[in-house]
Amino acid sequence: DLSPAEAAKDAAARAAIALVQDGMRLGLGTGSTAVFMVHRLAERVRAEGLRLRCAATSRATCDLAESLGLRIEELDEIGWLDLTIDGADEIDPDLNLIKGGGGAHLREKITAAASDRMVVVADPTKVVEQLGAFHLPVEVIPFGMQTTRTHIQRLLDSLELSRRPMLLRQRDGQLFRTDEGNVILDLSLEAIPECEALAAGLSAIPGVVEHGLFLGMCDLALIGSPDGRVIEMT
Ligand code: A5P
Repeated sequence: DLSPAEAAKDAAARAAIALVQDGMRLGLGTGSTAVFMVHRLAERVRAEGLRLRCAATSRATCDLAESLGLRIEELDEIGWLDLTIDGADEIDPDLNLIKGGGGAHLREKITAAASDRMVVVADPTKVVEQLGAFHLPVEVIPFGMQTTRTHIQRLLDSLELSRRPMLLRQRDGQLFRTDEGNVILDLSLEAIPECEALAAGLSAIPGVVEHGLFLGMCDLALIGSPDGRVIEMT
């Protein structure tokens, strides 16, 4: 039995998997909503014998997909994707996103950028008027991390953004490491009025590998409700 939140995620996942067609090359996202999506995909592949080529955005998604009988290939073996389906932490009315709550946004962004279409699956709690209430994840190289942090703080000052501390992400009392062995700074910004300027500024800092702002990448967001209905945002 699914909780209302899970039912909403599953509704979005079903609607996204309905877009999959035989022969497609797919990118599989990461997170709790993506888990439902991978289950629904595996069901369709089993029931219909779809021939697909799939790339995963994280080790966790790769392991789940393979445990359900899906074959996962490296993105570079496939080369280019027709569709990537992924979750999000926030979605604004222009379909700009914050991602990386699960720490996978680097591979997620590379995968989405290598796809003709990116479809986001989410529950209604993810839809916001303005991005920024959710912390913004920034993946940084461990070398020189304190100076990278200084650069980020100066950038935030220049954009008149919050001076609240940037938290080095921990998990289970340990320093969190991404699939690439990097660390994550979580920026508490409250609101991000100028997403483009912040994204460009972060990308220009040596030591920043990738930030969780996905601007102009998402083509469609499917927002599921606990009662099974799905709203399409385009
Ligand atoms: C993973 O790094 C994230 O970008 C996820 O896609 C995002 O956190 C959404 O996860 P949920 O579906 O669990 O909310």
